[in-house]
Amino acid sequence: MEKTKQHLWWQEGIIYQIYPRSFQDSNQDGVGDLPGITQRLDYLQWLGVDAIWISPIYDSPMADFGYDISNYTGIHPLFGNMEEFDTLLQEAHARHIRVLLDLVPNHTSDQHPWFLESRSSRDNPKRDWYIWKDPLPDGSPPNNWLAMFGGTAWEWDEHTQQYYYHGFLKEQPDLNWRNPEVQKAMLDVMRFWFDKGIDGFRIDVIFHMIKDAQFRNNPVNPNYAPHQATYDQLLPVYSTDQPEVHDIVRMMRQVADEYEGKVLIGEIYLPINKLMAYYGTNHSGVHLPFNFQLLTLPWDAQLLSTTIDQYEGALPLDGWPNWVLSNHDQPRITSRVGIAQARVAAMLLLTLRGTPTVYYGDEIGMRDVPIPFEEVQDPQGLNMPDKNLSRDPARTPMQWDSSQNAGFTTGKPWLRLAPNFHRENVLAQKDDAYSMLSLYRRLIQLRRQEPALSVGSYIPVYSDNQMISYIRQAEGHDSFLVLLNLTHRPCYFKAKNLEIKGTIELATVPELEGTTVDTTINLGGDEAIIVRLSS
Ligand code: NOJ
Repeated sequence: MEKTKQHLWWQEGIIYQIYPRSFQDSNQDGVGDLPGITQRLDYLQWLGVDAIWISPIYDSPMADFGYDISNYTGIHPLFGNMEEFDTLLQEAHARHIRVLLDLVPNHTSDQHPWFLESRSSRDNPKRDWYIWKDPLPDGSPPNNWLAMFGGTAWEWDEHTQQYYYHGFLKEQPDLNWRNPEVQKAMLDVMRFWFDKGIDGFRIDVIFHMIKDAQFRNNPVNPNYAPHQATYDQLLPVYSTDQPEVHDIVRMMRQVADEYEGKVLIGEIYLPINKLMAYYGTNHSGVHLPFNFQLLTLPWDAQLLSTTIDQYEGALPLDGWPNWVLSNHDQPRITSRVGIAQARVAAMLLLTLRGTPTVYYGDEIGMRDVPIPFEEVQDPQGLNMPDKNLSRDPARTPMQWDSSQNAGFTTGKPWLRLAPNFHRENVLAQKDDAYSMLSLYRRLIQLRRQEPALSVGSYIPVYSDNQMISYIRQAEGHDSFLVLLNLTHRPCYFKAKNLEIKGTIELATVPELEGTTVDTTINLGGDEAIIVRLSS
């Protein structure tokens, strides 16, 4: 049985992702901001989260809504100023809420002074800070690499007669991380924010940071389907996840280790075996390589239970797991699996072993909001209009109450709100024992109270084509059996060779709570329960 040894805050804790444009507007310009987040800290404390990760708030031309940074140590006036950031940090810490920022080291904005210098002439000292290449003899780009947001990844620069590489928009040139000056500059950015007292970083596309030294062509993806982004036509074998990236990750970890209690979370979309390498050997990688299994896989009990076990089994010694259901780049969980299963998903996220990250609004069951084509803002949606890839629907303003624009702004919101915000909002759900918000809050509270659920071991018990079940256990504390029906039809749980006795502590259907259960348990469609086992 798992001994309850000391765990670090980011192992025990729950992270909450804030997309700052959409959380709370304080100056009525229709865009969320830092003072807005500060105003809502009491809510986050009430909800019970331990840390917030705020998507980029830095100076930026906003070609990719802040993921195109023109000054890594400046706050964009839309979001506020440095004083307001300091206040947010102080107020969050006063409530024991840690603050994580988004670090975007793979690329800058094309308006960043580094890039302006780099593109000014071939012999500029910063020329090598970015990835410049000659055209092929026929004038075409140096290789076949594609950009995530459509088209070739190479942009021709008329002035200096070379191409530069951009893995995302042409307004987001990739830095050359093989250059030691680039390394130093970005590691200093990390120190700047750590010195201010932030508690960690979520690191954007960390697996993109180093490219093949020979810039070989990527192979064709034999499984490409036309509905997919054009980027998926090739397998990014040479443009991402290069072995040398781990040297860079190690450097970043060393900077974090110059301080106490900091956490680095890497954004990595890779299969489990490759993901594990980002933990590094002997704790030299990121603390948490984001685990997107629950976010990318079809909602299928057998597939998910196998994957959970595979992930658990693949973790390096002392590698700490983590789980994510939604983020600002993907459809929300409610839109993927429906509102009834979103309750089951909440229980899964908050009872698995490992740090959960909750995406703002998921706790009230926010759904992807249909955005009329002429209102689309996201470059991914605009560049591939026929593929339904816009990320706007999952980025709409937080629904606080039933007042104008759900209490988000009295100005014109930058993205339209869900039409049902009058009914689905924080205020309406707060006092409703059956709401999604009450479910989230109670799950969070239970997880905080019970060491078995926050740091205990994970023991898979039984799964089939409908259900997943596991036990969470910590020495000297109560154990819990978690049963989740991932379908709409009833099912039975039969613990073979295992004697089960206990009481339902928490259920997606609260009427079940308090019922005693034993070895055969009958679950309705969309039901999930947490059973406190009798000792
Ligand atoms: C991943 C971020 O999550 C996404 O929003 C962004 O567009 C790309 N990286 C480029 O920075």
